Amino acid sequence: MGHAARTRLAPADAASVAEAAALLRAGGLVAFPTETVYGLGADAASGTAVARVYAAKGRPSFNPLIAHVGSLADARREGVFNAAALTLARAFWPGPLTLVVPAAPGCSVCDLARAGLPSLALRVPSSRIALALLALAERPIAAPSANRSGRVSPTLAEHVMADLDGRIDFVLDGGAAEVGVESTIVSCLEAEPFLLRPGGITRGAIEAALGRPLRAADPGDADGEAPLAPGQLASHYAPRAALRLNAAQPLAGEAALDFGHQFWRSGDGLRLDLSPDGDPIEAAANLFGYLRRLDASGAAVIAVAPIPREGLGEAIMDRLTRAAAPRG
Ligand code: TXA
Ligand code: MG
Repeated sequence: MGHAARTRLAPADAASVAEAAALLRAGGLVAFPTETVYGLGADAASGTAVARVYAAKGRPSFNPLIAHVGSLADARREGVFNAAALTLARAFWPGPLTLVVPAAPGCSVCDLARAGLPSLALRVPSSRIALALLALAERPIAAPSANRSGRVSPTLAEHVMADLDGRIDFVLDGGAAEVGVESTIVSCLEAEPFLLRPGGITRGAIEAALGRPLRAADPGDADGEAPLAPGQLASHYAPRAALRLNAAQPLAGEAALDFGHQFWRSGDGLRLDLSPDGDPIEAAANLFGYLRRLDASGAAVIAVAPIPREGLGEAIMDRLTRAAAPRG
């Protein structure tokens, strides 16, 4: 699954929604309608399924994805809701609002979907098809917009097929997405919420629900594809240890992040191989978790084996290059 040679397109009736849910539960990629735009869904707990989403979209970097859930109760198992987050969820869910909250201790959304962040983005869509799919999938579904990277978000199943035919397993056709622009994203990491991306719910409606103004907004990009502001990159998970990229072998005292079993020298630090077989999808699924473990080992330097910038290798190297950049 995942290396889908054939993409099935079906009207979103009860049988095809059940088939789509079964595919998601088995690690497949399913495009489905939401009230905003079509999403490209995958089991949010599966690093491999999420890695296939980035591969199918051809994303050159790992932006964190929105985890879609069926209810506020489900959302509260994944994230920690402060007073403002609860107010906004109760006012606008189900609907085109995404809340960024701290991950809960038992959060099932994998590191890759969260781009290694200690927070996550959650949304309860109002589309009846999306809600039916989430109910049958019985798990959070990570879903960016179902377009190739750099293309506009799809509002019709035909748009999804034009971009992703042959790259995903299934497209549920639910007709036109009503709202047509992505969800509004509000960060609720601190007591005072912050607008990260304008979208389907207006700033005015959010401020009315909160009873106070939102903190000043970052401009963001219209597509929501690129990081919203340079500041957001800084908030991406950055290891405490320094990274030494394209290392031939680990040096004494260094931890090691291998790829395709290139390191033969037995360094004294912890050594993890992103993918002993050199599979970039497996490597992407392991990337953030392995960085975290190597960092926790206490090494001052992590030697990183060369990774070819092909397929997901480009996104992996983008992330590693950012993680290696000097920080103030
Ligand atoms: O309407 C929508 O929101 C659509 C439908 C499918 O639900 N989805 C969508 O996803 O637009 P995507 O991946 O294209 O945009 C997700 C945005 C990105 O800009 C990302 O940076 C932000 O959400 N995001 C996700 N997790 C975040 C986090 N922990 N902190 C800050 N921003 C986050
Ligand atoms: Mg998008």
